[in-house]
Amino acid sequence: MQIKNLEEYNIAYEESVKDPERFWASVAEHFEWQKKWDKVLEWNFTSPDIKWFINGKLNITENCIDRHLATKARDVAFYFEENEIGKPVREITYQKLHDEVCRLANVLKSFGVKKGDRVCIYLPMIPEAVYALLACARIGAVHSVVFGGFSAQSIKDRINDSSCKVVLTSDGAYRGNKQIPMKATVDEALVDCPSVTNVLVYKRINGKVNMLNGRDHDWETEVKKQETVCTAEIMDSEDPLFILYTSGSTGKPKGVVHTCGGYMVYTCYSFLNVFQYEPGQIYWCTADVGWITGHSYITYGPLLAGATSVIFEGVPNYPDAGRFWNVVDKIKVNVFYTAPTAIRALEAAGLDFVKPHSLSSLKVLGSVGEPINEEAWQWYHKNIGKEKCPIVDTWWQTETGGILISPLANITKTKPGFATLPLPGVQPVLVDDKGKIIEGNGVEGNLCIKFPWPSIIRTTYGDHERCRQTYFATYSNLYFTGDGCKRDEDGYYRITGRVDDVINVSGHRIGTAEVESAINECEEVVESAVVGYPHDIKGQGIYAYCIVPKSSRSHDEIRKEILNTVNKIIGPIAKPDKIQIVNGLPKTRSGKIMRRILRKVAEGDVSNLGDTSTLLDPAVVEEIVKGKI
Ligand code: WTA
Repeated sequence: MQIKNLEEYNIAYEESVKDPERFWASVAEHFEWQKKWDKVLEWNFTSPDIKWFINGKLNITENCIDRHLATKARDVAFYFEENEIGKPVREITYQKLHDEVCRLANVLKSFGVKKGDRVCIYLPMIPEAVYALLACARIGAVHSVVFGGFSAQSIKDRINDSSCKVVLTSDGAYRGNKQIPMKATVDEALVDCPSVTNVLVYKRINGKVNMLNGRDHDWETEVKKQETVCTAEIMDSEDPLFILYTSGSTGKPKGVVHTCGGYMVYTCYSFLNVFQYEPGQIYWCTADVGWITGHSYITYGPLLAGATSVIFEGVPNYPDAGRFWNVVDKIKVNVFYTAPTAIRALEAAGLDFVKPHSLSSLKVLGSVGEPINEEAWQWYHKNIGKEKCPIVDTWWQTETGGILISPLANITKTKPGFATLPLPGVQPVLVDDKGKIIEGNGVEGNLCIKFPWPSIIRTTYGDHERCRQTYFATYSNLYFTGDGCKRDEDGYYRITGRVDDVINVSGHRIGTAEVESAINECEEVVESAVVGYPHDIKGQGIYAYCIVPKSSRSHDEIRKEILNTVNKIIGPIAKPDKIQIVNGLPKTRSGKIMRRILRKVAEGDVSNLGDTSTLLDPAVVEEIVKGKI
């Protein structure tokens, strides 16, 4: 399954395009199936209808855990580094992982959770979060993880969209020197969630929580009652494994659905090849399990490969900006995978936080979630990788399930800012705005993929039409990523960023429509328009233009109210960085907001605002430029 050199990559790539079914069947052979598939692939991008490993039967947790027990029961699956410094690292062996997952799966069963039922997970980055995902998968329940930075309202919307039966949460979370309540937030959400029958609460911070009799249960107490054996549910390749909500350019976040067979095959294959993980190495991905990276490259991919990983509860700047490097030395991490936003923040903190650490265990560095600017790439390469570790700049999305374009460590020649080449099985194309495929090199266009790979999105939960509209209708017979991309003279891909109304803030995807609709909940705001602008650390910041008629309150007060409202409706991650109060927005005569102009102003590029003659009232532009923050 693991490619070893450039020649093997070239051969694998060619084979994967010539005969994808044969190629993926040979990869899938490496897993344990309770029944082999009848046919490898059926697909069309029109409906869309995509099925991999048809009629194959499996349970992904048997492949993540049980399969390794004969040889690896005592090997460490996870090292757990707590938020607080100075604590010994906790070790979770594959045997312990098995036992904890089975017990938790049995608790879920005792709550009446059955195959196909949805379970919401709202937990900090602690081993229990990983147990939670796997416990669901063990019994065929569909997990829906909600990132800890989302508000009660966001949790409620997600729970109700997929009628979750159970919520797994904790009293609270440690985050640097803060304690964040979680159960209280869940309580607020659950006032309006009729489908939820049981809540399991892990005590992490020993906080005071309200426990509702009959509904809420203490994690430890329940788990202790259960046995460490739980037969794995037999799943069809195309049974759903999980739902993960993600923001798009319109409306509310959608529930991206991934299924069992293809996701298993692709996450393992991509993990082994991109990072060139070798048995015995220690791998650390700093993502949160609330995002796709935490699903595919903390939980499933590494475990399927039998790897040893790190789970880190803390944040990069606590107690200081040397924390990551402290942990790298402490646990002797070999493969380190993080986001450009963290790299930029640590770069800004200065080299004094890097110097005391040897970092000599590092062999491979990774980047994910947003374009990495050349300066950050060079800093990472020089100061962290000491110019001897390749950087794998991995491009992918919640919808792709796994990494699609990336160097293979020590195999693909890297180039700063470039995700380089597609993995075997991935067929990217660039298209112009009319959908015409742009051939050749030294070109730029909208990034699409023209052939399915095993972990491609299958549907959006409860609304297949939305899936079709969003990803498969823009350009016929192509999966549209929403990203712009360049292909240089060497055929290398460089992602330039979103071409739709999605902003990427610190690697988190945020829909401008969502933020606008939250802002509009403020009584004093009549209308708003939100755009992204370049931000030194976050990659992009959120710039909000808000129309507020004459008011007795000061602009500062109104701004505060806007921030509180966004915090309450979406969560702290969507709070605008800049709020400009305006009297009007630039609109065309048909009432469409001209975001192009707003983006330019937010970027500070007001010299060339383009043609404003089609505007209903060109004077508003002048006012906006004058009032720019
Ligand atoms: C962006 C995260 C440039 C891109 C795994 C994509 C990237 C969106 C990269 C998906 C990269 C992710 N270089 N841009 N290496 N990786 N992106 O769903 O715009 O949270 O569409 O998945 O992040 O974000 P998501």
